[in-house]
Amino acid sequence: MSLCLLAFFLAAVTEAAATTTHLHLYIHETFMGANATTASLNAGAIGNSSSFGSVGAVDDELREGSDAASRYLGRAEGLLVQADLRNPSALCTILNLVFTDGVYNGSTLVVDGRVDGGGGGAAVERAVVGGTGRFRRARGYSLMSKFGNPTNSTVVFEMDVYVTMD
Ligand SMILES: *[C@@H]1O[C@H](CO)[C@@H](O)[C@H](O)[C@H]1NC(C)=O
Ligand SMILES: *[C@@H]1O[C@H](CO)[C@@H](O)[C@H](O)[C@H]1NC(C)=O
Ligand SMILES: *[C@@H]1O[C@H](CO)[C@@H](O)[C@H](O)[C@H]1NC(C)=O
Ligand SMILES: *[C@@H]1O[C@H](CO)[C@@H](O)[C@H](O)[C@H]1NC(C)=O
Repeated sequence: MSLCLLAFFLAAVTEAAATTTHLHLYIHETFMGANATTASLNAGAIGNSSSFGSVGAVDDELREGSDAASRYLGRAEGLLVQADLRNPSALCTILNLVFTDGVYNGSTLVVDGRVDGGGGGAAVERAVVGGTGRFRRARGYSLMSKFGNPTNSTVVFEMDVYVTMD
């Protein structure tokens, strides 16, 4: 076998070994009341922006379905910072998906990126930058969009995560 062919063969084997896993999840957030899963701290106005520098934290529920009673899988814990001087609805986010049930129990996925709340309903794409446990060396992307109609204290997000492990 020529070296070139060998290299091609090895590349093909490597390619086949990297499988993409598709996770379909729902994030259940309560933004008001005694059981709120979010908190925020507003920064003072700076320049033309009334919210630049504001920070928030979320510890939302991760569930298999959109129903509040569907299987509980873990938490979506994250940090959000308003980091766009011109767009008050754009956030810089860091999100850890922490699995405490199901086949990924004990593993985490790290999803980072920009969320523009004023994005007109388009799915928000963020990068999967890593993970732990079953998701060690994970990479990929996630798509998130609002699911159904929010109540006056809760909102549900549908999330598709496409993960490849080296
Ligand atoms: C908060 O959660 C507890 C336990 O699930 C529940 O009993 C209570 O009614 C909830 N409170 C509110 C304001 O939703
Ligand atoms: C703030 O708004 C003024 C008036 O619209 C504009 O001239 C200026 O460039 C803005 N500054 C920044 C930092 O966006
Ligand atoms: C998840 O893993 C932890 C740690 O191994 C274990 O204690 C727990 O029982 C598991 N939960 C489920 C629902 O399997
Ligand atoms: C908001 O939530 C409270 C408590 O669950 C409920 O009593 C009220 O009717 C809700 N208001 C609206 C406009 O949905």
